[in-house]
Amino acid sequence: MASTPSASVSKRLVLVAVTAALGFFLFGYDTAVINGAIDALADHYGLGSGLKGFAVSSALLGCVIGAWFAGPLSNRVGRVPVMLTSSVLFLVSAIGTGLAFGVTDLIVWRVVGGLGVGAASVIAPTYIAEISPAHMRGRLVSVQGLAGVTGIAVSLFVDAGLAWQAGGAANPLFFDLPAWRWMFIAEAVPAIAYGVAALRVPESPRYLVGLGRDADAEHVLRTCTGLADPRAKIEEIRGSLQTDRRASLRDLAGRAFGLKPIVWIGILVAAAQQFVGINVIFYYSTALWRSVGFGESNALLITAITSLINIGATVLSLLLIDKVGRRLLMLSGSLGMAVNLGVMALAFSQAITTVAGEVLLPGVWGVVALVSANLFVAFFGVTWGSVMWVLLGEMFPNRIRAGAMAVSTAVNWLSNFAISTTFPVMAAISLTGSYSFYALSALASFFLVKHFVKETAGIELEDMDRQLRHTPAPDHGNR
Ligand code: GLC
Repeated sequence: MASTPSASVSKRLVLVAVTAALGFFLFGYDTAVINGAIDALADHYGLGSGLKGFAVSSALLGCVIGAWFAGPLSNRVGRVPVMLTSSVLFLVSAIGTGLAFGVTDLIVWRVVGGLGVGAASVIAPTYIAEISPAHMRGRLVSVQGLAGVTGIAVSLFVDAGLAWQAGGAANPLFFDLPAWRWMFIAEAVPAIAYGVAALRVPESPRYLVGLGRDADAEHVLRTCTGLADPRAKIEEIRGSLQTDRRASLRDLAGRAFGLKPIVWIGILVAAAQQFVGINVIFYYSTALWRSVGFGESNALLITAITSLINIGATVLSLLLIDKVGRRLLMLSGSLGMAVNLGVMALAFSQAITTVAGEVLLPGVWGVVALVSANLFVAFFGVTWGSVMWVLLGEMFPNRIRAGAMAVSTAVNWLSNFAISTTFPVMAAISLTGSYSFYALSALASFFLVKHFVKETAGIELEDMDRQLRHTPAPDHGNR
C-alpha cells in the first residue's frame, strides 16, 4: 500500500540517506585527494613513475577487498556496524597517510583507506534502498552519487587551498608538516562526522526482520517511511527473505557460467561503468591537458571546472531519475558518451609535435577536445555516474542483494584499477586508440542495457523479487 510520509518523517529519511551518503563523500574525497599531493609526495620519497602510479592506484586494491567483504559482513553484523567500521578505516588511513614514514607504509595506509571506500560503496546503496519507500528511493540513492562527486570536488579545493596557503604542496604548514601531508590529514574531519552520524541512524528494517526483530523493524519503518501499518510490509519482507537469513556468496551460484544470470548482468553493468574511462579523466586530466599543450595552471583550472560540471550533472540526474527511469537514462548516456569519446579520439588524432618537441592540438582541435571531454563527463554524470549505483541497489532479489552487490562492486573497483593503471601505457602508444577503445565500450554498454537491464523505477523491492523469480508464488507447504 502506498503511503504519504509526513514532512517530519521525510526529514528523518533524508537524514538517514545523508548519513549513508557521507560514506560516498569520503569515497570521492579519498580517491581524488592524492591528485594534489602526488607530485610533492613523489619528490619527497624520490618515487619513479612506476611507484608513483602505484601510490595512486593502490587504494583501488583496498577498494576491491573492502567491497568484497562488506556485503557478507553486513549480513552477519548489520549495515550500521559496517558503516562504523568504514569510518574508522577512513580515520586511521587519513592520519596514517598524512604521517607516513616512507612509501611502504604510505601505500599500506592508502590500501586501508581503500578498504573503507570499498565498504562504503557497497553499504550506502544497500542501506538506502532497504530503508526508503519506492517512490523516493531513486532520488535518495542519488544523494549518495551527489555526495561522491562533491567529495571529489571538495578534495581538489582543499588540496588547492592548502597548497596555496603554504605557497606550494611541498612547503611546510602547521606544526612544520608539509601541505601535502595536511591534504590527507584533513580527511579525518569528514571521517569523524561519518562515524558520529552512523551512531545515530537506525538499522535496516530488512536486516532486522531477518533476525526476527520485527518490533524494531516496525519502529524503523514507521518513523522513517511513515507507513501507518508496517506489519503488512514486514510480512512482505519476510516472504522475500524466504526465511533464510544466512544468504551467502554460494547463493549467487547458477547455471549461467556458474552464476545466476542476474548476477552476471550486475557484474557487466558494474564493469561497463568503468570501461568508458571516466576515471582516466578524474585521475589523469591535468597530465592529459598538459600533454597536449595547455600550461600547468590552465590544466588545473580545467580539471577543477570538470569536477564542478560533474556536480551539476549529478544534480540533474537526481531530478530525472525517478521521472525518466533508469533504463532510458543509461541508454541515452551510453550513446552520448560514445559520440563524445569518438570526437575526443578524432581530436587527439590531430595532435602535432612542434620543432621544440612539444605536443600540441592545433587550431580548433584543442577546443573540440576540451568541449567533448566535458560533455562526456556531463553525460556520464547525468546517467551512469549515479544511476548505475541506484540500479545495483535495486536490481537483485532481497535474499542475494548483499552478496551480489559485493561481487559487482568489487568488479567495479577491479575495472577501475585495470583502466587507471593501463591508461598511461595505452596513452603512450596512442591517445586516439585509447579513446576509441572507451568509445567502443560505451557503445557496448548501450546494447548491454538494451537487451539485459529491466526498469526498476517505482517498483517495491519485494515486487522486484517476485518479477525475477522463475518459480510461481512461494509454496508455503513446501518447507
Ligand atoms: C562514479 C564512479 C566512480 C567515479 C565517479 C566520478 O561514482 O563509480 O568510479 O570516480 O562516478 O564522478
